[in-house]
Amino acid sequence: MKYNFDKIVDRKNTNSTKYDMSKEMFGTDNILPMWVADMDFETPDFIVNSLRKRTDHHIFGYSTKPDSYYNSIINWMKNRHNWDIKKDWITSSPGVVPAINMAVLSFTNPKDKIIIQPPVYHLFSAAVQENDRQIINNQLKLVNGKYQIDFDDLEKKIKNDVKMLIFCNPHNPGGMVWNRDDLLKLGNLCVENNVLFVSDEIHLDMVYEKTHIPISSLSPAIANNTITCMAPSKTFNLAGLSSSVLIIQNEEIRNKFNHLLHNLHIHYGNIFGNIALESAYTYGEEWLEQLLIYLKENINFVVDYFQDNIPKIKVIVPDATYLMWLDCRNLNLSNEELKNFFIQKAKIGLNDGPSFGPGGEGFQRINIGYPRSIIEAALKKIKKAVDNL
Ligand SMILES: Cc1ncc(COP(=O)(O)O)c(C=O)c1O
Repeated sequence: MKYNFDKIVDRKNTNSTKYDMSKEMFGTDNILPMWVADMDFETPDFIVNSLRKRTDHHIFGYSTKPDSYYNSIINWMKNRHNWDIKKDWITSSPGVVPAINMAVLSFTNPKDKIIIQPPVYHLFSAAVQENDRQIINNQLKLVNGKYQIDFDDLEKKIKNDVKMLIFCNPHNPGGMVWNRDDLLKLGNLCVENNVLFVSDEIHLDMVYEKTHIPISSLSPAIANNTITCMAPSKTFNLAGLSSSVLIIQNEEIRNKFNHLLHNLHIHYGNIFGNIALESAYTYGEEWLEQLLIYLKENINFVVDYFQDNIPKIKVIVPDATYLMWLDCRNLNLSNEELKNFFIQKAKIGLNDGPSFGPGGEGFQRINIGYPRSIIEAALKKIKKAVDNL
């Protein structure tokens, strides 16, 4: 491999949320943090060099996005995801979470009903509740180690004056890549019931054997009713550069979204975020291909390790993402005991299952975007703690 993903980088004392907030998060510094979704791999040279080049010009005033920025997104979506998009459809946001919140604020009113599908990324429920909207849970079903959408439940609930559905594809925390049939069914249900579809596809590039299908690529009617949110931040480890992309084909919806974006005066984006995004989408394919091989080997390593050494914990094998969902229900611990077990006994900082909503009880999420030696050390800590239970 040209790129070295085994390299250990000391991230402590760099103001890293993951490393330097352990005390606040877990009550102790004596912990290996494997929670928040950024990776411990260095962002590739071609991105760092493009940022360095920009710092040679010592004025960092307001700046616009050049055509090359838009072309990099258009080409990336075509080459990697077989989706033809137009420059006009592209808009931006400092992040996918801000974009989801802006969509909630722009297209719904207080007390409106919004469907989410837990267990799911915890900031979906926050975007609904913190904006005083009402959550309608369409809980996913876990069948033979894979999540499925409960369409019977959804069809009943979606008819009941729902305004929006926030969807996660690929799915965090389960790592599902939703298939064409499910996406069509879901997208069409939203169209038929006049429910705006917000599709969080931030993990779209981190897919192993399956193919990610942007839901808006499936039909003009679905595209007309969808806001797609994506970013290079997970893929190229750029979360701190606060730069994400929205693709909104429907002009009316796009204008309304952009109205809020402009009012908040965040439409310029961040100079470095824009440059990193363009560089990632222009030069990033080779690096990404190698990263995906490394991550898939990490996943296989984790799956085998649990099977052979800690069989009480079952691993949901992800189709995508560098996040793995651990089914710890056979440890027979309460939620509180399970959380404390990982912090105090295993000394690993994970994401607590219940924070992902109903269905998260008894689960923990581990981030495997690390050099393998760190993963191995973490798994040994977990094994020792489970053996002593
Ligand atoms: C599904 C999902 N959406 C959004 C985010 C965060 O997006 P951003 O940092 O662009 O706000 C994450 C981060 O883990 C995520 O998993």
